[in-house]
Amino acid sequence: MTRASWRTRIGFILAAVGSAVGLGNVWRFPWLTAENGGAAFLVLYLAVIVLVGVPGLLGELVIGRRARTSTVGAFEALAGRNWRALGAVPLLASVVVLSFYTVVGGWIVRYLVGSATGAYFDAPAQYFAAIDHGLGAVGFHVLFLAVTAAVVYAGVDRGIELATTVMVPAIVVVLVGLAAWAATLPGAGAGYDFYLALDVAYLRENFLDVLAAAAGQALFTLSVGAGVMVTYASYLDEDRSLAADGTIIAGLNTGIGLLAGLSIFPVLFALDVAPGSGGPGALFISLAGSFASLPYGRVIGIAFFAVIALAALSSAISLLEVPVAFLVDEYGVSRGRSTALVGSGFLATGTVAALSPSAFALLADTIANLALTAGLVGFLLFDGWVLGRDALEEYELGAGRLARLAGTPWLYAVAFVLPVFLTFTFLSAVTTTAGVPVEGTTLAALAAAAVIACIVVLRRPSSVL
Ligand code: TRP
Repeated sequence: MTRASWRTRIGFILAAVGSAVGLGNVWRFPWLTAENGGAAFLVLYLAVIVLVGVPGLLGELVIGRRARTSTVGAFEALAGRNWRALGAVPLLASVVVLSFYTVVGGWIVRYLVGSATGAYFDAPAQYFAAIDHGLGAVGFHVLFLAVTAAVVYAGVDRGIELATTVMVPAIVVVLVGLAAWAATLPGAGAGYDFYLALDVAYLRENFLDVLAAAAGQALFTLSVGAGVMVTYASYLDEDRSLAADGTIIAGLNTGIGLLAGLSIFPVLFALDVAPGSGGPGALFISLAGSFASLPYGRVIGIAFFAVIALAALSSAISLLEVPVAFLVDEYGVSRGRSTALVGSGFLATGTVAALSPSAFALLADTIANLALTAGLVGFLLFDGWVLGRDALEEYELGAGRLARLAGTPWLYAVAFVLPVFLTFTFLSAVTTTAGVPVEGTTLAALAAAAVIACIVVLRRPSSVL
């Protein structure tokens, strides 16, 4: 049987953008910006996207296209059987993220329906507290998962590619419409000020915290660390410039995030809703509450939640594809059976997350971040020290002049700088969660030592460094 592949380059790019654009953009990004000093955060975030996000994304794309097989098998195909174990971490990360993602997807579908019926209009806070977990949440999680699985079941080109080619442009069109409508609201100016104001003093005082927030967001929003980009790149059958594709994916993703902020903040300020602290509930409570009192609130609410639903769906599809492709590639299971099998697994894990808020929080706040970071460090060290020159060769296939110039710096970044940086954020998250905060410089030294130890173990003669 021939292996599935994308029909067009633009199809691949849109599928990857669909994966990247999700709750992270429409929800997490605008709020993080607002909480972390507005424009000052934006500048830092853009820098982290360029310096950490894009190189990391390329690190995954290179592995996937070279191996032409999905996450776990890619390590074996490129370096031998002993390396398979490295694939377990990103595979697990995809399972963790999707296990809570479909629950949130379910909330969104419920709010989409609720915007039409006005269900949440009277008491937004109580409404959210009533639906965020319990049997209703289970039901909507199942619905959302079923739609996700149907697309994955239909296949790479006829399912994922087709769906995202329609969904991503639809997201952009509706968001542009929403942003334009939001600009007409009386409080729009104050909203933009809050969103885009430059608070340099804040940034200076909280630099490390803001940097950590920006880095975590950059990885999550670009969908790296869970093998999604490895899997998607494994369906490429032409050697076009990965650097160009990666830059386009990151650029579109960032633009859509900015656009989401431009639609959200004017709405909140039009009604004097204090954009309070983040968290999963805030979008639903304050924003949904705003729709209740705005002219055409129902229509706006429907448009808004439809955008978020599409964004979340195209991300969930990519996450489901990782374990589905794993079974197809590694065990020769048919796509249909694999989707059914993996889907029923998620039926169970998502149900746990939908019933237990503490399980949900554990997955969404702690385990997901750690698993994604560890998964990405594994990919990058593999690029830098096991593939070495081969990674550079793959990067250069189809690359233009400019991209070629960036090749060697990219490999150095991926081999050393990024792993140390990511291990630092990993250790800092572990120590903070465990309640034993450690001095920043000590952590940095620990991170560097840990990475060097890994390099000593992993290093292969073919490495350029
Ligand atoms: N990037 C998506 C978002 O911003 C979420 C997502 C999809 C993701 N696939 C991923 C996050 C893989 C990490 C890894 O909502």
